[in-house]
Amino acid sequence: MNPEQKYLPLTRRAFVASSAAGAAVSSLGFAVRAGILPADQKPGRGSRQGPSRVMIDTDPGVDDALALLLAMHSPELKIEAITSVAGNVPLDLTLPNTLRMVEIAGRTDIPVAGGANRPLLRQLVSATYAHGENGLGGAMFPEPATRPVPEPAAVLIGQVVRKFPGEVSLVTLGPLTNIAAALSADRELAGMVRGLVMMGGSLSGGNITPAAEFNIYVDPEAARIVFQSGIPITMVGLDVTRRTTLTDDHVRALEATQTPVSQAAAKIARNAITHTRERGFLVGPNMHDSLAVAAFLDPSLLNWKQYYVDVETSGELTAGETVGYSPGAGDLRRRPEMEKQAAEAIEIRGSAPTVAGTRTSPVLRDKFVPNANVAIDVDAAKFFELLISRLSAKS
Ligand code: BDR
Ligand code: CA
Repeated sequence: MNPEQKYLPLTRRAFVASSAAGAAVSSLGFAVRAGILPADQKPGRGSRQGPSRVMIDTDPGVDDALALLLAMHSPELKIEAITSVAGNVPLDLTLPNTLRMVEIAGRTDIPVAGGANRPLLRQLVSATYAHGENGLGGAMFPEPATRPVPEPAAVLIGQVVRKFPGEVSLVTLGPLTNIAAALSADRELAGMVRGLVMMGGSLSGGNITPAAEFNIYVDPEAARIVFQSGIPITMVGLDVTRRTTLTDDHVRALEATQTPVSQAAAKIARNAITHTRERGFLVGPNMHDSLAVAAFLDPSLLNWKQYYVDVETSGELTAGETVGYSPGAGDLRRRPEMEKQAAEAIEIRGSAPTVAGTRTSPVLRDKFVPNANVAIDVDAAKFFELLISRLSAKS
């Protein structure tokens, strides 16, 4: 089968019918378990209620750019706003890159706000080694004509969440600086957020250091605020996103369709592959951020496990590491019939107290209460079918 046949572009009408309804029913149980939907959401209610309200926070970024195009081509989503943050490249590039994607998708109706130009406490470390100097792998697009809204990202996040309490899900594709700033400015906000789906973290080693995934590494203090906020978190980390490597076949499939979105996506993807190869990387480019958006659209693409996740902020070598506690993982796991009992007994243990310190016990929390559903496996082929067909869809 040639790549063009494999990823048949859907019309808007077809993907509303096949994906929105199908995904809503087939993966709803999953979505509830994954914390993506609140437990009171019943099958069928989703379609009557219409699309889900989301805000997307992003640092384009090659994979952010494709993730934004995917989101804007997904009728299940009512995108209330998109906010930009410094990350892969500085804010003075991520913000115009975000505006470029909104223009390419013909969605200038979506408000775009600029956010933090550096992490809460640290200097910005960017990822031009992976995304090129312009953040889009060197793919060039005209200067955007669209302007951002005047509100800073953290303010806009607060306004939108307060306008629709309990309804707005946050989809985060970059460092969590804007989200942490919004939560810190308004202590009631976390309780009004429906859920947060992040590309970030890893329970199986990092990509910028052996310990840390890039988004968490850049602003670990912000990530810690988010993980401890009480917002139901869905973590789509490197454990699954490193299995989403873009290939020449994928790019050819995009190139075969003549729409502004598929052509732009193909151009970015082609540049990203060239950029990666020229630098001799054996891994990538991976579609990390698109997988997070896809996880929101169809959680059944992935398998999930509940963890209590916290973030290392003080390690000289390990800052930004996400540490996941679960009675069902690692050497402390038990036979299935004993897992529940073990879950009640497990404590959250940190490092041993120092002789000079004030802490007397390694126990940080005496009870295991999960704060995140973590993606532990992915059907990468199904994910790429969703990604390519939506990017190729005629709007
Ligand atoms: C994450 O870091 C960025 O480089 C990507 O855009 C993605 O959000 C992957 O670690
Ligand atoms: Ca990103």
